[in-house]
Amino acid sequence: MSSNDRVLIFDTTLRDGEQSPGISLNGSEKLEIAQQLARLGVDVIEAGFPIASPGDFAAVRTIAQEVEGPIICGLARAQPGDIARAGEALANAERPRIHTFISTSDIHIEHQMRNTRADVLAGTRAAVSQARELVEDVQFSPMDATRSDPEFTAEVLQIAIECGATTINVPDTVGYATPDEYGAFLTKLYDLTPGLKDVTLSVHCHDDLGLAVANSLAGVLAGARQVEGAINGIGERAGNTSLEEFVMLLDTRAKLLGLHTGVTTQEIARTSRMISRMTGYPVQPNKAIVGRNAFSHESGIHQDGVLKNPETFEIMDPRKVGLDDSNQLVLGKLSGRAALKDAFEKMGYQLTGDQLATAFKRFKEIADRKKQVTAMDLEALVTDDLRSEGVGTTFELVSFDVTSTSAGTPSSTVTIALPDGTEKTGHGSGDGTVDSVFMAINEAAGVEARLREYRVEAISGGQDAIGHVSTVVELGKVGAALRSQIPGVIAGERATGTGTAVDTDVITASAHAYLRGLAAALRELDHSDEPAAAAEPMR
Ligand code: KIV
Ligand code: ZN
Repeated sequence: MSSNDRVLIFDTTLRDGEQSPGISLNGSEKLEIAQQLARLGVDVIEAGFPIASPGDFAAVRTIAQEVEGPIICGLARAQPGDIARAGEALANAERPRIHTFISTSDIHIEHQMRNTRADVLAGTRAAVSQARELVEDVQFSPMDATRSDPEFTAEVLQIAIECGATTINVPDTVGYATPDEYGAFLTKLYDLTPGLKDVTLSVHCHDDLGLAVANSLAGVLAGARQVEGAINGIGERAGNTSLEEFVMLLDTRAKLLGLHTGVTTQEIARTSRMISRMTGYPVQPNKAIVGRNAFSHESGIHQDGVLKNPETFEIMDPRKVGLDDSNQLVLGKLSGRAALKDAFEKMGYQLTGDQLATAFKRFKEIADRKKQVTAMDLEALVTDDLRSEGVGTTFELVSFDVTSTSAGTPSSTVTIALPDGTEKTGHGSGDGTVDSVFMAINEAAGVEARLREYRVEAISGGQDAIGHVSTVVELGKVGAALRSQIPGVIAGERATGTGTAVDTDVITASAHAYLRGLAAALRELDHSDEPAAAAEPMR
């Protein structure tokens, strides 16, 4: 195929995706996801928004330094401080890209930015020129493009191209366009913007009306050769284009469309499950490509047909997205540390000595309790253990004991280690066992906190499946003992944090997930490493 048939995949799971409500990934989780995205073969990873917080900056910098293969991109508003910060975060990337944006719709210009069209033209010129002084690869987006005047948008794009932008991304920021409309809008921009044919046109669609993938397809049919999106379609509000859906659309309908991507489709299922687990965002069972029912047939007629010939009711082979015939990621028999190391390497994880020792210990615990350990189990265990390393404030679960009062109410005694290592014990009773464990943790930590969300899922099938627990914990009052250990906590503020954990025992996983949620909320409250005025978060 000629290069004009190749569609670049720009992954924004770690930027637009990470800005979804309730998702807060730490630095090591972001790095792990970026490494998996590189194995998946995306062309560009938008690793974050460096000016937004010191954590975002550090994550972009680490990903730029460590992840090989894709272009690493950082987002920046069309403001000098944002662009300088993005350039700094990307300084060590092999292939850095700065993505700068400014709104072009009158509604945003008048009511959000409170400036004028002339300011937008000047801002674009200054931002793209500054970014080009820092990196060669600059992407420019006119935010809310689909509600903007096409003539004015074209004027802005022409300036961006003349100042050196190499990719022009046209976002349907509010997910309002229909496919025909979006395609026609892009065609009009090609007509009105002389330089557009010389750069890569990109599409970025939100899913408010469920049209993100359809609009992205309309975009490539109109000439775009970069598609932006996120794994599992996560992102602002209803989310972004689901990259796995878009990639499999081009792959499955290659004869009709004549377009292809560089994605290793066999990595899709693993990537989707990793992101679901780390973000705590479940994938709906009937979701295209990555839902657990996407390749299952329930009705007898369908099952009968598929047994006779899979093509009767299947348009894709599950192996194409990395699942075996029973829709599982299964490993062969594993015995010994060397075999485990080998299995991890095949899955793309290079574990160091200590990490391998921890993983092996956890593997043995699980293998004693489970008949078959799947690749997903292993991945869940290893990411669960590694992700708590190096995140700053954490609590450790030392022990817990669950009993029942004479009235039959569950009650628990839990001992935890506070961030400085001091052990504290608390008691609690509640509506159920899990609730009583959480109450006991609150007492031990000396906090007022409540569970906002709680979800348990099985990582793989069967009665002995590993349970994956996600929590969203809201933290209110922090007691004096804890406050003295974390002086950056501002009394009276509230914060929420997400925590996830896996174990064959759901109560143990719940206790770990609650402690991680609590620690994440506490880190949110800790302002000690923040500059005086942090940037206002934007998308
Ligand atoms: O949706 C949007 O407009 C964005 C921009 C930053 C590209 O996410
Ligand atoms: Zn967006």
